[in-house]
Amino acid sequence: MFEPRDAPYPELKKTHTMAHSGRPWTDFKPPPAAPVWAAIEGLGRYYILLASIELDLFDTIQRLGPTSVEKISAEIGAPVDHVRSLLDGVVAQGLLDQFVDVYELNDTAKRYLVSDGPATMADLVAVAPGPHENWTRLAETVRNGRPATPIEDDPVAFYVPLVEGTFTTMFRCATRADLKIRYSALAAPRVLDLGAGGAPWAIAILKGCPNGTAVVNDLPGVIQVAERKVGEHGVADRCELRPGDFHTIEIEPDTYDIVVLGHICRTEGEEGAKALISRAFDALKPEGRLLLADYFPDMERKFNPHAVIMGTTMMASTERGFTFTHKQFSEWLTDAGFARVRLIEPIGFQQTFVATKPRSTPPSTHQAG
Ligand SMILES: C[S@@+](CC[C@H](N)C(=O)[O-])C[C@H]1O[C@@H](n2cnc3c(N)ncnc32)[C@H](O)[C@@H]1O
Repeated sequence: MFEPRDAPYPELKKTHTMAHSGRPWTDFKPPPAAPVWAAIEGLGRYYILLASIELDLFDTIQRLGPTSVEKISAEIGAPVDHVRSLLDGVVAQGLLDQFVDVYELNDTAKRYLVSDGPATMADLVAVAPGPHENWTRLAETVRNGRPATPIEDDPVAFYVPLVEGTFTTMFRCATRADLKIRYSALAAPRVLDLGAGGAPWAIAILKGCPNGTAVVNDLPGVIQVAERKVGEHGVADRCELRPGDFHTIEIEPDTYDIVVLGHICRTEGEEGAKALISRAFDALKPEGRLLLADYFPDMERKFNPHAVIMGTTMMASTERGFTFTHKQFSEWLTDAGFARVRLIEPIGFQQTFVATKPRSTPPSTHQAG
């Protein structure tokens, strides 16, 4: 039997083919399946890149110059057909250039994927999504409200490679931040860098301020990365390493010109993030500034997919982790007593709140816990 469909003006369809306007007698054109395929292929795209880095393909092509698949295969000791298939998967993602059987680094690969690229992410690719097995158990994590193996179970194993991998980007961000906030104009700033990782912020600020000094905090076992990095950058003599939990280590009140919370709030949940903001406020001198870097979704949580998916990544692998919006952080900073709250983006996708402790300070409303 003929079932009337939902097109109210079927005569409009007379000039449209089915391919153009969808099924006859409806004004509904089926959407493409491309977003679903993009999600399915996401897994393959990621592992193609990861395998290429593990096999040293980018560094090998850098060494050989534009070169044939046979030479690359011989260099890494793997069968030609398999190497070609992998390389073509990299080319399909726009991460290599190729002409028939000759492969060549493109600008993206030179900058981000060779191990000595100026903004290399080569060490970051394996660790950035968090422990891979947590992704295979995401539905279970959502159901239980907790991942089976959160990174908090073994933070040293997770954070040491992570902060090694993020150092280049964060150091560049921290160095470029001087153009926006002029920390280098401070005569002898005292800096507190909580959860410092490799201490990219403390190092950048100390390099910009030859008379500055810093207290660098991280967990025992991770702080060794900072210890090595401050040595490599020649600022070790101006750094005090203070290992321990950033929620409970002793912090001098009214002492610091700059406190850095660099990518540490998003593992702490709302209460933990507010407690860190409160600790930063108490530690700052009047007119001192908090630098709070993270990934912040917009207030509708949909216009910056990078920050939104970072939040899901936190949910997948941490006990309390979520990303929080610009609006939430602005309110928490203001509630804690900060003034002149602004947002800078020293490099693409790396945003930092800058907030000042006013001269006469209302009492902080959040307690560190
Ligand atoms: C995402 S990394 C950020 C590193 C660095 N601040 C940056 O901006 O690149 C988070 C850091 O916080 C540290 N961390 C996590 N929980 C901590 C805690 N309870 N106390 C001190 N450090 C902690 C980790 O070891 C890691 O180095």
